[in-house]
Amino acid sequence: MNANPPLCRLEDIPDGDAIAARVEAPAGACELILLRQGEQAFAYHNECPHQGRHLDYAPGRFLVRDGRLICAAHGATFAVDSGECIAGPCRGSRLAPAPIEVVDGAVVLR
Ligand code: FES
Repeated sequence: MNANPPLCRLEDIPDGDAIAARVEAPAGACELILLRQGEQAFAYHNECPHQGRHLDYAPGRFLVRDGRLICAAHGATFAVDSGECIAGPCRGSRLAPAPIEVVDGAVVLR
């Protein structure tokens, strides 16, 4: 059984889109991007491997199109399901994943 509090409900993430989540931890808070594709959820740290900037164009608002997440700073494009940069200035690098799972409709850290 997973004792971590839920980050959100799966339905809180619009299908094909993303939301932000803030996680408080003893070592400090971190900002996550939570993405949804149907019944699957993916999470990455909100830090672009290009220049370390947040990927959102406004707080908690992300550019997500056709399974791709686009960094608002310089357009690096990441595959939602792997975090791999498939186009743009840091092509071949990856977003840092955060370990999550969906349990009874709740998105939780593993
Ligand atoms: S900081 Fe994301 S593309 Fe430059």
